[in-house]
Amino acid sequence: MREFKTAILQADAILIVTPEYNYSVPGVLKNAIDWASRPYGENAWNAKPVGIMGASIGMLGTARAQYHLRQMFVFLNMLPLNQPEVMIANADEKFDMDGNLKDEKTAQKIRELLQALAAWTKMLKKARM
Ligand SMILES: Cc1cc2nc3c(=O)[nH]c(=O)nc-3n(C[C@H](O)[C@H](O)[C@H](O)COP(=O)(O)O)c2cc1C
Repeated sequence: MREFKTAILQADAILIVTPEYNYSVPGVLKNAIDWASRPYGENAWNAKPVGIMGASIGMLGTARAQYHLRQMFVFLNMLPLNQPEVMIANADEKFDMDGNLKDEKTAQKIRELLQALAAWTKMLKKARM
C-alpha cells in the first residue's frame, strides 16, 4: 500500500480504465481507491488530475461506473477531465481475440482523451505556480 500511494503521489496525472460491475465500479477498484485515501488527512488522490475511460460488452459502455467514479472524486478532491468521455460500448465487436483494439473511431477517441488529459494536467500545473 505504501508503494501504491507513493506511485500516486509521484504521478502527474491518473488515468482510470474500468469495466462496469452491477451498474457501478468493480469492488477491487473501489477498494484500491479507498485504501489510498487513508488514513484520514493523508489522501494520496488529493488534487490529482484524473481521466477515465471504460469498455463494456453492453450498450452503455461503463457510463454508470464512470459517473460513480466522478461522484467519488468529489470527496477525494480529484480534478477530473470532463471531456471527451470514452465509453466503449459493444466492446466484444471492437477488440480482437488477443485484446487488440480494431475500431479506428474508438482509437481516435482514446487519443483525444489522452491529449486532453495531458493539456488539463499542464494547465493545472501552471495554475499552481
Ligand atoms: C459481477 C459482474 C457484474 C457485471 N456488471 C456489468 C454491468 O453492470 N454493466 C456492464 O456493461 N457489464 C457488466 N458486466 C460485464 C463486464 O463488464 C465484462 O464485460 C465481463 O465481465 C467480461 O470481462 P471479464 O472477463 O474481465 O469479467 C459484469 C460482469 C460481472 C462479472
